[in-house]
Amino acid sequence: MAERITQREHVLRNGQRLTVREAVPADAAQTIAHLRQAAGETNHLSFGPGEYSTPLEHQQMMISEMAIKPNCLFLVGEADGEMVSMLTFTSGVRARKAHQGEFGLTVVQSHWGQGIGEFMLRYLIDWSRQNGVTRKINLRVLVTNAAGIALYRKLGFEEEGRIRRETFLDGQFVDTLLMGLCIDPD
Ligand SMILES: CC(C)(COP(=O)(O)OP(=O)(O)OC[C@H]1O[C@@H](n2cnc3c(N)ncnc32)[C@H](O)[C@@H]1OP(=O)(O)O)[C@@H](O)C(=O)NCCC(=O)NCCS
Repeated sequence: MAERITQREHVLRNGQRLTVREAVPADAAQTIAHLRQAAGETNHLSFGPGEYSTPLEHQQMMISEMAIKPNCLFLVGEADGEMVSMLTFTSGVRARKAHQGEFGLTVVQSHWGQGIGEFMLRYLIDWSRQNGVTRKINLRVLVTNAAGIALYRKLGFEEEGRIRRETFLDGQFVDTLLMGLCIDPD
């Protein structure tokens, strides 16, 4: 198995330097703050403003546990040192499900359109090709999330299904699109 990649750098369209690396427990408070901020900036997450209530110790534990699993990934993206993006990829525990997982991705609104989401996702795809376990990446996206769907299509994800009425938002039901990317050896 190739050595696990743990950090990548990229110059953004606005000239800032983006560093993408695996989270460590000391990042826990900032990751919670990031998710709370994201919840207030978009309607496209599974939680709304004030709803991300995971305690600090749980977040620290989650980061530690994911770091030692070969098929899980917790990434943070920092632009000139400020946390602007997060990606988590969680896989099945049992042997029959360990080859597949689902990710969640956020970028703060001030940094949308800079290429960060794409860079984070390319990291996940490259890492998946090298971790020796992952053969399928899944995601769920609200059908109203045009930016997200465009990003996932751009990177080769295909639509595999639709869950009707999975979300209730602003008085209306919203469907979820299931998308996936198969990971095969080069
Ligand atoms: C969806 C999201 C992750 C995209 O991240 P981003 O860093 O803004 O996207 P990027 O700049 O990397 O864009 C990459 C590609 O995505 C697509 N894209 C991004 N924003 C778009 C928009 N507003 N409209 C249409 N396509 C868009 C384009 O194909 C783009 O490629 P291009 O730059 O060559 O045109 C970001 O908007 C976000 O965090 N939104 C709120 C939370 C969320 O929706 N998370 C995903 C839940 S499934």
